[in-house]
This record gives sequence, structure tokens and C-alpha cells, in this order.
Amino acid sequence: MTMRSLSYDHSHYAASFNVFLKKSTEHQCMQEFIQKKLPGIISSVGHEKSSINVLSVGGGAGEIDLQILTKLQDKYPGIIIHNDVIEPNSEQIMKYKENAAKTSNLENIKFTWHKETSSEFESRMKTSKEMRKWNFIHMIQMLYYVDDVSATIRFFHSLLEPGAKLLIVHVSGTSGWAKLWKKLSPRLPVVDRCAYVSSADIKQLLDGAGLKYQSYELPSVMDITDCFTEGNKDGELLLDFLTETNNFVETAPLDLKDEIIKDLKSPELSEKRNGKFLFNNTLSAIVIES
Ligand SMILES: C[S@@+](CC[C@H](N)C(=O)[O-])C[C@H]1O[C@@H](n2cnc3c(N)ncnc32)[C@H](O)[C@@H]1O
Repeated sequence: MTMRSLSYDHSHYAASFNVFLKKSTEHQCMQEFIQKKLPGIISSVGHEKSSINVLSVGGGAGEIDLQILTKLQDKYPGIIIHNDVIEPNSEQIMKYKENAAKTSNLENIKFTWHKETSSEFESRMKTSKEMRKWNFIHMIQMLYYVDDVSATIRFFHSLLEPGAKLLIVHVSGTSGWAKLWKKLSPRLPVVDRCAYVSSADIKQLLDGAGLKYQSYELPSVMDITDCFTEGNKDGELLLDFLTETNNFVETAPLDLKDEIIKDLKSPELSEKRNGKFLFNNTLSAIVIES
């Protein structure tokens, strides 16, 4: 069996991502950022506007999007917010719709879901010559899944209105992810739709493109203890997520599996606390000016 990228199988991806969310403080650290920092970041994006256009690229099941929208609505009461979501995974779109229906006080938000990838959206925009502009665009934990990270950032940046902002949330260059991928990505399904890049690479691209941005570190951990118990279902799904590989345990060569298990336990990647291995899942939030 050959190693394939996790994103090929939408159901398996969603199952693996859900275990990752359950075992990590991923969404908690984003929530803290949204509570403490986002109000300042969005303080001018809707200034004197009759409506606000928000574009979510890779919105997933919408848990984080809905918190962002709530903050925007608090900041701009009574203003209509058009929230467009680009999301290729139909299961995630279904969950997003359920989550939006369950959230109260979203009466000023108009949702439109586009079941497509960011590059399909880009082609559609270019063909239709529509080129709508946006007041706030976010790409939260999705730039791993594009063919060309730099071109994708440049395209979405070009859709910003003057005074608008583009928020990218991505694994930090200081995280366990960056260290694991730096060492092992040549042996993972890299040619198969996964870009093993960290926020350090993204900042380098932004510097090269001369874009102005501000960056915040969001400390976070993931309990990976289950990865070390053979046959543990959650552990196997976490290993899939860590390596972005579909069925890593069944498809990876033995020496690679052994090496990853050893590396994941190393203090460079994980801290051992109360008998648990806590993987460094620190994120970066990068806010780019129009
Ligand atoms: C790690 S999840 C993050 C979801 C959400 N933003 C969050 O933080 O909870 C990545 C999401 O990006 C979506 N995705 C994958 N490839 C994509 C692409 N090429 N364009 C847009 N979204 C993509 C996936 O389906 C998935 O829902």
C-alpha cells in the first residue's frame, strides 16, 4: 500500500481532525486570541461601511468562524455581514450549517457556502471577472492544503478592500509540527497535496513580497499519549493527522513508524507531564494589512 495524503478521504480527514480537536487545546487557544486580540484587529475593518464582507477560506465546521462573526457583530451592531465560506469538504459544510443554526444572535449575518477549494474559487473569480472585494478574510489552519502557498496568499490579499485585513492562523515555526516536518517531510506524501510549511516559512514569504503584518504566538498542546498504545484508534487517527497521511500505521514503512514514535516522545517535540506526552502545538496568528 502506498502512502496517500489525508485530505483525499473527506470522512477520514474529518474523523482524524475531530480527534485532534478533542486531544488538543487548538480551539481554546484560538478562542482566547479571538476574545483578547481580535476586537482590536477588526476595530477599523467595517468603519463607516453599510455592510461588511467576510471571506472564510477553509472554514471547516465553522466553530471558530462563528466566534469571529459574533465579535464582528458586537463591534458593528445592526450592520449586515455577508459571510462567504470556501470549503471543499461537504461533511464540514453540513456541520457548519448545523453549528450556525444552533448559534443565537446571528440575525445580521448572511451565509453563503461555496463547496470548492481555494484554487477553484480563484479560477471561478478570474473567469467571471467578478473580483468582489472583502473587508476581512481569514485562512485558519488551511494553507497546508494548497499547491502554492505564496500565490494563494497573494491572490487573497489582492481581494482586500483598502483598510481590510487578512488573518492567517498556522502552526508556529517554534512548534513540534515544524520540527517534525523539517526532519521527516521528505518521507511523507509531500507531492500529494500537503505543504509542510510553518509560520516561519509564511513570514519569509510575506517579507519577500513586502507585505506588512503583525504576528502573535498562541501557546497550545496536544495530548499524544494514545499514539504509543498499539491498536488505539484515537492514537492511529492522531498519527494520521500528525503526518497528514491516510492510514499512516498501515501504509508507512516500519523504520519511518519507529522513527516518528521515537521523535514524538523527544523533549524537543513534547513535554512529559503526569505520565502524558504533550506535543507542542503552538500556533501563530498573522494579521496582514491591505
Ligand atoms: C484543519 S481544518 C481547519 C478548519 C477550521 N478553519 C478550523 O480551524 O477549525 C482545514 C480545513 O481546510 C479545508 N481545505 C482543505 N483543502 C482546502 C483548499 N484547497 N481550499 C480551501 N479549504 C481547504 C478542509 O476541508 C478543512 O475543513
